[in-house]
Amino acid sequence: MINVIGLGYIGLPTALMMASHGVEVVGTDYNKELVATLNAGHTTFKEDGLDELFADAIKAGIKFTSEYQVTDTYIVSVPTPYDKFSKKVDTRYVVAAVKTIMDVCPRGATVVIESTVSPGTIDKYVRPVIGKDINLVHAPERIIPGNMVYELLHNNRTIGADDKDIGEKIKELYAFFCRGEIVVTDIRTAEMTKVVENTFRAVNIAFANELAKICRHDNMDVYEIIKICNMHPRVNILQPGPGVGGHCISVDPWFLVGDYPSLAKVIDESMKTNDGMPDFVLNRIYEIMKENKITDFNRVGLYGLSYKENVDDSRESPTIQLIESQERHLAVPLKVYDPFFANDLVPNQYHDFEKFLEDTDLVVIMVNHNQIKENMDKLKDKIVFDTRNCCDFPGTYRL
Ligand SMILES: NC(=O)c1ccc[n+]([C@@H]2O[C@H](COP(=O)([O-])OP(=O)(O)OC[C@H]3O[C@@H](n4cnc5c(N)ncnc54)[C@H](O)[C@@H]3O)[C@@H](O)[C@H]2O)c1
Repeated sequence: MINVIGLGYIGLPTALMMASHGVEVVGTDYNKELVATLNAGHTTFKEDGLDELFADAIKAGIKFTSEYQVTDTYIVSVPTPYDKFSKKVDTRYVVAAVKTIMDVCPRGATVVIESTVSPGTIDKYVRPVIGKDINLVHAPERIIPGNMVYELLHNNRTIGADDKDIGEKIKELYAFFCRGEIVVTDIRTAEMTKVVENTFRAVNIAFANELAKICRHDNMDVYEIIKICNMHPRVNILQPGPGVGGHCISVDPWFLVGDYPSLAKVIDESMKTNDGMPDFVLNRIYEIMKENKITDFNRVGLYGLSYKENVDDSRESPTIQLIESQERHLAVPLKVYDPFFANDLVPNQYHDFEKFLEDTDLVVIMVNHNQIKENMDKLKDKIVFDTRNCCDFPGTYRL
């Protein structure tokens, strides 16, 4: 039996996927409300294919509880935020989960850390709290919200283990459902690869964001420039945006900056560039208002609260950062609408799209949900500032 610890965006789909492929799984989360929701037959977040997977896993006998189980294999998928001041990984959730496992697990058990950690974290923080006869494995997760179920099935995976045989055993466990290639390596390499993958993305996004700023300075079309550059056989520039957000690309590269402050210079600058995008957007809103003689901030509305399209994940959301920036300047936050959020997350949030449009002259597209793409014609008589390059009306403002 596998005990999955932490049933959030990563732990829940992983537990469900294993259970629906014939592995006996118990999912444990210390959030009792979350466990009650799952036991009442409901998933806890929106994700394509998750409800179907949930139904399959229930049929296969998955159990949810707040209790840690006595078993020989644990998968830990608890959060690993970073300390905003030191930029170092905050290991307290991982260490707490591993300590609780140690209270119940038998000798010879294997603990698989799926949570993303910076290189050396397992040696420094996890190894000291595990017993000598416990096997340690690091199996970082790569899936992206919005396409999690597909990617769980198809992505390649990395397994880092002290002992090759244990690594192979855990590889077999993931191979129950994973159709991608599974590489077995050592723990430190596995830690580093995960953080490096997200850092690669962050640096490349920062390059696109920096181009957007340069092009804006001299009124050039960054999208046209990127499109043409990408026709070069060895150039592949990403798209700029209003900020990064999410729990990986906007977080993990800071681990390297925190651990290697005098070496990780490009990474440091890239993260600052990305983090500066919500303020860049706010400044551009101000310019567009001036150009259109809009004096009332009440007539400006932000579309989208999540950090990316078609998900209900608002962690590190650029929209929320933009609103916080306004609040820091003692301004009244702009109105916001996002079809994925039924509850109020920010002060001036609308829940009716039509009413939001009625009260708005300047619509700022922060997220390109399918919902806005399908309703784009309703923005025909609005001033549109499109930070995602998804609206092709003449006169649309862009980054
Ligand atoms: N969300 C992503 O897109 C993504 C992608 C790849 C990797 N990751 C990594 O996966 C890890 C988990 O991220 P997430 O997005 O699933 O986080 P999350 O916040 O959605 O879920 C974590 C869950 O762990 C539970 N928890 C925390 N401490 C616990 C403990 N001691 N015992 C039992 N339950 C506990 C929380 O209640 C929560 O439900 C992180 O390290 C993250 O960096 C996330």
